[in-house]
Amino acid sequence: ADEELETVAELSKRRGFFFPASRAYGGVAGFYTYGPEGASLKRNIEDSWRDLFVTQEGHMEISAPDVMPEPVFEASGHLDGFDDMIIECPACDSSHRADHLVEDATRIEEAESLPIPEVEALIAEYDLDCPVCGEALTDVPVEEFNLMFETNIGPGTSSPGYLRPETAQGIFVEFPQLKQYARNQLPFGVAQVGTAWRNEISPRRALVRVREFTQAELEHFIDPETDEPPLERVADVELTLYPADEQEAEDGGEASDASRTSSDGSDGTYLTMTVREAVEENVIASDWVAYYLGLARDWYDRVGLDMDRFRYRQHLSGELAHYAADCWDAEAELGGDWVEITGFAYRSDYDLSKHGTHSDEEFTLFRQYDEPQRVERATVDPDMSVLGPEFGGDAAAVADALRDLVEHDPDAFDGETVSVEVDGEAHEVDTAVADFSREEVTESGEHITPHVVEPSFGIGRIVYSVLTHAYGRDTVDGEERAYLDLPAEVAPTTVGVFPLMDKDGLGERAREVEADLRGAGFAVTYDDSGNIGRRYRRQDEVGTPYCVTVDYDTLEDDTVTVRERDSTDQARVPVAELPATLTALRAG
Ligand code: GAP
Repeated sequence: ADEELETVAELSKRRGFFFPASRAYGGVAGFYTYGPEGASLKRNIEDSWRDLFVTQEGHMEISAPDVMPEPVFEASGHLDGFDDMIIECPACDSSHRADHLVEDATRIEEAESLPIPEVEALIAEYDLDCPVCGEALTDVPVEEFNLMFETNIGPGTSSPGYLRPETAQGIFVEFPQLKQYARNQLPFGVAQVGTAWRNEISPRRALVRVREFTQAELEHFIDPETDEPPLERVADVELTLYPADEQEAEDGGEASDASRTSSDGSDGTYLTMTVREAVEENVIASDWVAYYLGLARDWYDRVGLDMDRFRYRQHLSGELAHYAADCWDAEAELGGDWVEITGFAYRSDYDLSKHGTHSDEEFTLFRQYDEPQRVERATVDPDMSVLGPEFGGDAAAVADALRDLVEHDPDAFDGETVSVEVDGEAHEVDTAVADFSREEVTESGEHITPHVVEPSFGIGRIVYSVLTHAYGRDTVDGEERAYLDLPAEVAPTTVGVFPLMDKDGLGERAREVEADLRGAGFAVTYDDSGNIGRRYRRQDEVGTPYCVTVDYDTLEDDTVTVRERDSTDQARVPVAELPATLTALRAG
């Protein structure tokens, strides 16, 4: 299993998919550079994502800054809650993720969802040592470590900022503006493909856990009472599901093989069922989450994941992020381990409510009633003179607090006095003095805080999974070859153009063919070095689906050989028909 990942890492470096960054200065863990092949593969996967989740689905796309001011993350909860468990070795000062040490040593999955004292107890129980120097870690405290990269905005330290730990916040904070572009109508979705930053304690497994990575996120704003997803579009998509109750039934253990069960769940592992069944049987609680699991399942297939090495796993309740009410992860099997590649979270109104409370902007939308409604409205009119001198300098604040309270809890005014707190001090106000009254009014609608459904894709992990799943070996003409069976849509190069030899005008003709294909919009590589077999192998190894060879017959009849990567089948095609032929092949 490790061998597979080592092979992919070696190939990635040698052929230019990705490699550790800043090596000239010793490198730093958790940062990778995508080489020429990898940058193309990554961009093609992003474009394919954009094609589906923005263009086909009809959503907006934005591009917000990476650096955001501190109040954003006070509101979002990241400043307080975005922590991992760290343990620092007293002997060699190396830092480690405490929950990972436990997971690696005990096969207990998801130790990250355990409280710190339990993780400390497991470290003691299993006598865990520092993986760097071997010092015992028993009795070393486990602490919280906030994952955000902090910076200063402008000179001085008075204006702290943070590199966003998820692109999502760049969408949430702009909601008051974005809702106008959506003409104040729910549902609407806003997507963003951009960089997210996390100061991971222990980066590991190549692109899987890095400190700077690309997310493709969609925040779909919905009215939970009235909006329904177009489930019929994905109703028949078949899902492999690993619900929380199945995981709990296995008592924390986990099947590491890719076994499958029928929908009766007979061996207690996975459930295989259509989106429709998953909704009907309430395996997936939110229809919106179910919709996205179906939509995304076909997209993973489209970009080249092996669907026999793929599943959806529901988060255990202790594992949920601070903002999530429910979450399913898409997981790909890599080197024998399951790796989360996307989170599908039901974030409810968590983020918009928080930003609404912490800022002066409106993070709500007006929901029109079908019919105007007669409703009872409570009002309070405490002007400062009425409140009188006993409230001193607090009078204005007390008045504000009363107005705020009557909006949220008018029943609090039902007695003779009402109590409000200002700066930690409680004030009793006579309801008559506060001039509290109820009246019947006609309302045409109400302000609601939309709920959010969020598919959040980690592009680097998907690139890595696609590479790993695409890698294969077989024998062609008695010779072993390595290949990537990347779909044409994401392959860095669509077509390699070769002259049989670089003489007798073959090179010139091949250059013309190359130029024509570039002009027709294909990603082309020209190669005239080494024998043809070697050139095919080179393209096979970077996943180029088609190769075109210009030979002596080309000079006679203007046809070329088109060779297909997976079957290695070859056909003669007139040069004039090449673009159309390749387009048809690419479309499958
Ligand atoms: N806005 C929701 C969110 O950020 P998440 O599950 O923390 O949710 C979403 O992250 C995705 O981002 C993950 O499924 C994963 O693919 C990717 N991701 C998260 N942390 C990462 C890291 N340190 N390195 C690479 N990818 C990461």
